[in-house]
Amino acid sequence: MELVIREVAEGDWAAWHTLWDGYNRFYGSDISAEITQHTWQRLRDPHSAVHCRVAVADGCVVGFAMIVLHEGTWVTSPICYLEDLFVAAEMRGQGIARRLIQALVAEGKSAGWSRLYWHTAQNNPARNLYDEFTPADEYVRYRMNL
Ligand SMILES: CC(C)(COP(=O)(O)OP(=O)(O)OC[C@H]1O[C@@H](n2cnc3c(N)ncnc32)[C@H](O)[C@@H]1OP(=O)(O)O)[C@@H](O)C(=O)NCCC(=O)NCCS
Repeated sequence: MELVIREVAEGDWAAWHTLWDGYNRFYGSDISAEITQHTWQRLRDPHSAVHCRVAVADGCVVGFAMIVLHEGTWVTSPICYLEDLFVAAEMRGQGIARRLIQALVAEGKSAGWSRLYWHTAQNNPARNLYDEFTPADEYVRYRMNL
């Protein structure tokens, strides 16, 4: 399998949308068409802090990593939050998510990001993969919907 990790492109809309729907089903979330459109537009906006890298296997878009670059008070260079990671069900277990994260690490080192971080459910089996990169820390998340 030839696997390429690259920035999302305009022509990826249909494939991205299918993956996005699968991702939202995985989380049982009902994201409106309006939010989906807004998210897609920001991914394609060079001035936005939200970015998307896609995994392309033999010419087909089969996964994505969506990130938010933000500032921090303890650093002078951008911090990268990996918000969404998804691989099409039929393509899992072939190292595609690993390659997506490796690509972010490489991009961040080259672009001078200070940190890459992400959250996951305590029981997400993908933690086996995440532990390859770094140990989980001891912090817990507090979240209020406003
Ligand atoms: C999590 C996810 C992105 C992993 O994608 P993937 O391409 O299958 O992952 P990889 O093949 O790169 O996994 C590499 C390693 O991670 C572990 N792993 C990843 N996902 C796993 C899963 N669902 N169950 C068990 N182990 C898993 C395996 O140990 C694997 O190691 P191996 O290659 O030595 O067998 C994919 O399962 C997915 O989209 N899941 C639904 C959405 C989700 O959970 N996203 C992450 C939210 S934080």
